[in-house]
Amino acid sequence: MSKPKILVTRLLYPAARAVLEKTGEVDWWTETEAIPRAELLKRVADKDALVCVLTDKVDAELLTAAPKLKVAATVSVGYDNIDVAACTAKKVIATNTPGVLDDTTADFAWTLMLAIARRLVEGDAFVRSGKWPGFAIDQMLGGDVYGKTLGIIGFGRIGQCVARRALGFRMRVIYSGTTRAPVDVEKELNAEFVEQDRLFAEADFVSLHVPLTPETRHLICKESLEKMKCTAFLVNTSRGPVVDEEALADALENKKIAGAALDVYEHEPKVHPKLMARRDVILAPHIGSATVETRTRMMVVAANNVAAFFEGRTPPNALNKDALGLK
Ligand code: DGY
Repeated sequence: MSKPKILVTRLLYPAARAVLEKTGEVDWWTETEAIPRAELLKRVADKDALVCVLTDKVDAELLTAAPKLKVAATVSVGYDNIDVAACTAKKVIATNTPGVLDDTTADFAWTLMLAIARRLVEGDAFVRSGKWPGFAIDQMLGGDVYGKTLGIIGFGRIGQCVARRALGFRMRVIYSGTTRAPVDVEKELNAEFVEQDRLFAEADFVSLHVPLTPETRHLICKESLEKMKCTAFLVNTSRGPVVDEEALADALENKKIAGAALDVYEHEPKVHPKLMARRDVILAPHIGSATVETRTRMMVVAANNVAAFFEGRTPPNALNKDALGLK
């Protein structure tokens, strides 16, 4: 039997490469820039599997261009780049990489939270400017993090990892979302489930950990920003479109909230020009899960999903398992 043909839109790290090379005949996109759409559609035409990243859209157009495709594996936990329903309609199994990036992403949400509250990025620029006159008693004052109220929207794996870190900072943790955590988890993390409006009203830090869905698009909008404390900070390591950037820029301009630290954007890689110009905003380049260890794990998980399929097993992270009636 001929080997399955696999297209991979990034040159993955050796551990993942080894899994895929063993599984099939691999067509690697080796350039540093993302694969152009036309090239992706051309190369995927004769492939049985696709390993992609979140900038590659797996939609009806791609599925039509890839009549032999059986598996589409994204190297990301978020899968808003994949039209799962369209995959199901074409009997293509879609997979993601949950579970291996939770702590790393939580670390980064905390990095942003501490950095915005303590004005680290501004301070760094100040020192580098050569204009720092030396210590002054009232210079670059920020706000305390320890002892404050942390509001987590979306209390899944990553949200819970963020809460766990708050224990060491003696914070009060409140959370909201579509599902309530089991009582033992709430107890362990000292976290209280509240209505979203209450979270906006009481949190000193609002950290977003929801997937992008029609319901979460612009969850942070003019109305929600108006409910927040004028001393509060917004942290977003989830997906850009969860925040209405125009509304956020206006809220910052009108001092409705104190600052924002963002890792993701509404129209990546573009950032709203009003946000670009502000000193009360930290802008990170979508690096929440970007550590060598975690990215290696994510690549291996994606590769194992593909390998499982060609070994006759259901990929462990199949997103449309039930819809396709797989065990
Ligand atoms: C994810 O996994 O969804 C991140 O946003 C990219 O690593």
